Formats: sequence, C-alpha cells, structure tokens
Amino acid sequence: MIEVPSQALARQYQEPAFPISDTCSFWKGESAVICGILGILGKPDFRLLEVGTYRGCGLVHFHAMFPAARLESLNVLPEQAGIGGTEILPREEIGAYAVSVGVRYVQHFGDSRYFDFAGLGKFDAVFIDGNHHEEFVVCDSMRTLGALVAGGVMIWHDCTDRYPMGQCVQRALGRLPFASQIVKVRGTTLCCYFKPVGPIGPPRRFRAACRNIGQTVG
Ligand SMILES: C[S@@+](CC[C@H](N)C(=O)[O-])C[C@H]1O[C@@H](n2cnc3c(N)ncnc32)[C@H](O)[C@@H]1O
Repeated sequence: MIEVPSQALARQYQEPAFPISDTCSFWKGESAVICGILGILGKPDFRLLEVGTYRGCGLVHFHAMFPAARLESLNVLPEQAGIGGTEILPREEIGAYAVSVGVRYVQHFGDSRYFDFAGLGKFDAVFIDGNHHEEFVVCDSMRTLGALVAGGVMIWHDCTDRYPMGQCVQRALGRLPFASQIVKVRGTTLCCYFKPVGPIGPPRRFRAACRNIGQTVG
C-alpha cells in the first residue's frame, strides 16, 4: 500500500454543525481529506454510493462538501442482518439525521453481501463503511468495484491498526487484487483507490497532488 500525508489531499469546506447527541463517525480532519479526494473527480455532480448509512452523518458531510452530488446509501435492516451483524439500527433511524436536516439522497436497504449493485448503474465514487469484519470488507469492495466507473474512486473508512475493527479493514484491503494501488492517507483511517482508465494508473490530478508533497503515486 502506498502512503501519502493528509495535507496532500485535504480540502476545507463549510462543515455542518452537529448536535451534541449526533456524533459523526469521521475522526478529526478526515472529512477534509474525503472532500479533497472527491474533488479530484473534477465533477461536482458526481454520483456517490455509500455502503453503511447509519444515521446519515456521512451523507450530511458529503452534501455539505458537494451540494450537487447525487447521493445513494445502502444499509441492512434488522431483519436482514444475520449473525455477526454490527451497528444494526431500526429502519426508522437509518439515515434519520440526514433526513432531519433536509439532505436529499436515495436510501437502499439490504445486506451488502447479497445486494444487486449492478441494478443501480454506475457510480463515480463508492464509500465503504458498512460491517468492518474482514470478509464483509473484501466482499463489499469486490462487489461494488463493478459499479464504479473507470476513473472513479473507492474510499474506505476505519482502515487503521489503532483499533481491532480497523485492523480487520486493513487486513481486508491487503487481500484485494488491487491492494498495491490502494493509497493510505497517513494520520487518518482513510484509504482510496482510483479505478484506472487505462494503463496509466490514478488520474493526473491525484498524481499531481501527491507529487507536490514529494510522493510518487502510480
Ligand atoms: C460505521 S456505520 C456507518 C457510518 C456512516 N457511513 C457515517 O458516515 O455516518 C456502519 C453501518 O453499516 C451498516 N451495516 C452493517 N452491516 C451491513 C451490511 N452487511 N450491509 C449493509 N449495511 C450494513 C450498519 O447497520 C451501520 O449503520
């Protein structure tokens, strides 16, 4: 895995103010890095699929970063989650925070291991943040890869050796056939992968951002 420092990618935006009761799952500084990575797409109305909605805090951030982005999110329902399900919410709480602040997005329900992603068409970005167990992360990554356009980006949250679930994500990414092209953003739990358009690897803008801080990528 290639590593780049977060300052290569961070892009500030007007962050939403969260009520104290609504903790967001992003760690400090991470949303600015996500904003920078998504900005590399160079397309403000990109189509993004999130795996793992929870209360919708991530969606609120994505909307604040790029109000024209077309957001969709998948979450498992309690009755669909089998043994080993994590962070299972009742249907009415899934995405409820995003809905309460007026963020428009499309909510899908299902277990990511079996969901028909092909039926949704193509996305410019996929954000993997569902069940963090290793087998789920491998499965979610491989199954959504086909839904990602060439030149699109896959982003993973919680990839870190700092806590056990993060270690599961880290191990999962190491197993992916394109592991050597995944970029880890130092000081965060974020990793990203730009699906190549041709044999040239990541987009020029991504390579340029990383070269500016002396890192060669792809
Ligand atoms: C870490 S939370 C997501 C946080 C959210 N992305 C955010 O930024 O606020 C993980 C979510 O994935 C959902 N989840 C767990 N297993 C899943 C599965 N197999 N398929 C789809 N969603 C799943 C959980 O119910 C939970 O809402």
